[in-house]
Amino acid sequence: RNLDQLYRSVIMDHYKSPRNKGVLDESSVTVDMNNPTCGDVIHLTMQVEEGTVKDAKFEGEGCSISMASASMMTQMLKGKTEAEALQLADTISEMMLGNEYDTSIDLGDIEALSGVAKFPARIKCATLAWKAMEKGIGEEESEE
Ligand code: FES
Ligand code: FES
Repeated sequence: RNLDQLYRSVIMDHYKSPRNKGVLDESSVTVDMNNPTCGDVIHLTMQVEEGTVKDAKFEGEGCSISMASASMMTQMLKGKTEAEALQLADTISEMMLGNEYDTSIDLGDIEALSGVAKFPARIKCATLAWKAMEKGIGEEESEE
């Protein structure tokens, strides 16, 4: 119960004070992705140099879970290689689905979203930003 409260306050903190909200002036990756179940949209920009995510920002309108997840994601992506970012997305997705996941990876604030596994309708909200990031990196790699 206390852990639930802690998780909820971490989510609300990211929702009310989103990190990296906005659009990067210089970006190599731009993705728009929508959640078909509600129509909410995320606009993600990333600056990837030599296979490493240097910066990331997001904009969008959506529920607290989707916006908090995007905020947490942009925070974690900086300094990660594309391979690390994709591996992180896989781990997070397993966690959100309630499956076993690699607990040796530091998930930071994102662990607060582990509870969404109990609410299947919210999993799409929680994974929206991550799907956008995976799509963006996939497109970037195919251009190289
Ligand atoms: Fe309520 Fe997404 S958090 S539907
Ligand atoms: Fe639309 Fe959560 S309700 S992203």
